[in-house]
Amino acid sequence: MLQLRIALIAAALFILDSGSADPATAKTVLVTGSSQGHGLAFINDYAERGWTVIATTRTPSTATQLQALAASFPDVTVEELDVTDFAEIDALADKYKNTPIDVLNLNGAINTFRVGRNTHGETDYAWLEQVLKTNIVGQLYVSEAFLEHVAASDQKTIAVMSAVGGSITNVRSATAPSYRTSKAGLNMLMRTYGEAVKDRGVIVAVIAPGTIDTENYMKVEDPSTLSDRNQRMVAANSYAPREAIGKMIDLIDSLTLDDISTFHKWDGTTLPW
Ligand SMILES: NC(=O)c1ccc[n+]([C@@H]2O[C@H](COP(=O)([O-])OP(=O)(O)OC[C@H]3O[C@@H](n4cnc5c(N)ncnc54)[C@H](OP(=O)(O)O)[C@@H]3O)[C@@H](O)[C@H]2O)c1
Repeated sequence: MLQLRIALIAAALFILDSGSADPATAKTVLVTGSSQGHGLAFINDYAERGWTVIATTRTPSTATQLQALAASFPDVTVEELDVTDFAEIDALADKYKNTPIDVLNLNGAINTFRVGRNTHGETDYAWLEQVLKTNIVGQLYVSEAFLEHVAASDQKTIAVMSAVGGSITNVRSATAPSYRTSKAGLNMLMRTYGEAVKDRGVIVAVIAPGTIDTENYMKVEDPSTLSDRNQRMVAANSYAPREAIGKMIDLIDSLTLDDISTFHKWDGTTLPW
């Protein structure tokens, strides 16, 4: 018995020392759009939790923060992926065809709530098409390309990053019609996709992250050093805390097939569709 305990402790120390996850037990996540913002924070937190991480970005060569993270976590692999490039998606899905993916985290999108050519009366139709292609069409294509990888895993979850602004019920102004439309459309597409794949045991869950304080601006000692926008966000208490990323990971880990009909918010509450 004592020998068994010593062997187990030695194995645990080896895993900690090597900095690698135990391949027998580690779960695998693929996160899109992981060079910055929420995506980068997801990569950091999944890596710290010992997951095997496939971190995709459109341009690995300029993703310096992501590359630095990958250099310090041996189980983080950086891959190139643009969700509007179907050939690239197919090639990546093929490269990982024997890898079960526990969580497919559809994070990458054109996040244009406050910026971009996005106002009624001044609609830039080429831009609108690009937003819809990226935030809706590409998301389904990635989901379908990686369905077998997810279905072959233990956790079998596709976590779809939507937005509070995607709630039709909550519309109170004409702000950000392109972005809101893209997320409302994404919600419907993924809600129906969830019905289509639930018999495979695959959970497709729509989650709205807040505007998460990934740079910890709320903890800066002297807020006057921040940009005007960030000063306003901090003063108005508009940021969701950095911990929201971890809460979303916990939420994703807790999901079951019963949750596919719910529009989830990062903090575990529910939004109206
Ligand atoms: N921050 C917010 O206020 C907020 C609120 C609600 C919902 N969200 C949602 O949360 C997610 C992340 O937001 P964020 O704040 O981290 O936004 P962000 O800082 O603008 O980052 C979004 C990332 O999406 C990726 N992306 C853009 N076009 C892409 C494409 N064609 N293919 C693949 N990836 C693409 C880019 O990653 P790469 O450069 O690495 O390719 C980009 O860095 C988005 O889905 C967003 O809509 C954000």
